[in-house]
Amino acid sequence: MSSTQLNATNGQAVKVITVANQAGSVGKSTMVAALAALLAADGKRVLVVDADSQANVSHSLGVASTEVAHHTGDVLLRRAEILDALVETNTDGVLLLPGHADLATDLVELNSMPIAALRLRKPMQERSPSTTSTWS
Ligand SMILES: Nc1ncnc2c1ncn2[C@@H]1O[C@H](COP(=O)(O)OP(=O)(O)OP(=O)(O)O)[C@@H](O)[C@H]1O
Ligand SMILES: [Mg+2]
Repeated sequence: MSSTQLNATNGQAVKVITVANQAGSVGKSTMVAALAALLAADGKRVLVVDADSQANVSHSLGVASTEVAHHTGDVLLRRAEILDALVETNTDGVLLLPGHADLATDLVELNSMPIAALRLRKPMQERSPSTTSTWS
């Protein structure tokens, strides 16, 4: 898990928490869902970015990835605007950029684009949640 700070366009600080580990079944998704709920309960506005094709965190937050209009891959590959892709979750104060099975192929394409990971920076700064969680 790592944490970094962005300055939003409105001057508010945005903390970005990344949960990633090559190893499987070590509790990444569980940690993100729990952390998002705890931060929201503490009054933070939370955006969870599900960058996993399994979409387990999306499902944990009550969102069926098969039914969403857009997902993280759509935003990273500029097929959709982030504001059109965000959905409410079953947890007050937690918004979600959903994962999707198609992310598996999208991530192959994104791996050949070194600056792809920076594509969420501007919309995050403009959206200005106080906390954002990402993971893979
Ligand atoms: N702290 C914990 N104690 C016991 N079991 C846990 C804990 N955290 C997660 N688990 C269980 O471990 C399993 C794997 O957790 P999880 O799906 O969060 O891992 P993951 O790292 O996201 O896996 P994947 O690599 O498949 O994405 C799940 O069945 C989950 O319920
Ligand atoms: Mg997982």
